Amino acid sequence: MSKTKIVVIGVGAVGSTTAYTLLLRERTDELVLIDANENKAIGDAIDMNHGLPFLGKTKVWAGTYEDCRGANIIIITAGTAQKPGESRTDLLKRNISIFEGVMDEVMKYNTDGILLIASNPVDIMSYFSWKKSQWPVNRIIGSGTLLDSARFRYLIGERLHIDSRSVHAHIIGEHGDSELPLWSLANVAGTPIDISDEDKEEIFTNTRDAAYQIINAKGATYYAIALALDRICTAILRDEGSVLNVSTMLQNYHGVSDVYMGVPCIVDAQGVREVLNLDISEHERELLHRSANKLKELITSISM
Ligand code: 2OP
Repeated sequence: MSKTKIVVIGVGAVGSTTAYTLLLRERTDELVLIDANENKAIGDAIDMNHGLPFLGKTKVWAGTYEDCRGANIIIITAGTAQKPGESRTDLLKRNISIFEGVMDEVMKYNTDGILLIASNPVDIMSYFSWKKSQWPVNRIIGSGTLLDSARFRYLIGERLHIDSRSVHAHIIGEHGDSELPLWSLANVAGTPIDISDEDKEEIFTNTRDAAYQIINAKGATYYAIALALDRICTAILRDEGSVLNVSTMLQNYHGVSDVYMGVPCIVDAQGVREVLNLDISEHERELLHRSANKLKELITSISM
């Protein structure tokens, strides 16, 4: 069997936690860490290597862009992160200019892997990566609303005293302030979720604003996003065909086109194999359009 290789570009809080999660779960044979701050990548690689006697046989090293050669998945977490009081979209211009350089380098050495984008604003960064690379859309995936959906399922599970893994509920749209909950489809064992409108409002608000709460409390979010990225890598490497709310290019999705947004997708070895067309309510459709319009305005503002 051929070896699997994952490259993590950007080992700030999200990148290094993701690498550590991949290591703990023995997700890949080879794990490469790349960062503009070379010493940080070197330090992380040494630190992780010292844990190998407690783990499996993953080969971890601090690399250069040349190491993107042959990678199955390249995870990009590079860029600046939100500070307290900033929204994800405040990061846009800074991160686009960082991505220009990163994408140029990656594309020199890899043309057939899968790019998994986590830098914010993730839907725009994914769209930009697709535009810049001209790779097929199925191979450029944003982490999208997978994390938001996990937060949503967790909060619903807490409210109902039910294991969040048994709660089926989706957040779609922008990974950010204009995202929307699909209450019309939320269920436990096929049974609609029976809670008051007030509780629904509170659960959604806490889901949407979770990152602000965490950033105010400790400066950054990284554990749950690392698990979400690991989940996407698993679906790809094991050719699972799992339904995950990742960010992908939409074409006539409830009338929305030419924008990357989080929606339920079937993810397997090809990346996004299929976008699932959901039977959503008229109100949800309106909110989806509002979210898409916001993202499109942002795309126009940076004239891609
Ligand atoms: C999060 O939602 C900040 O996008 C990051 O945790």
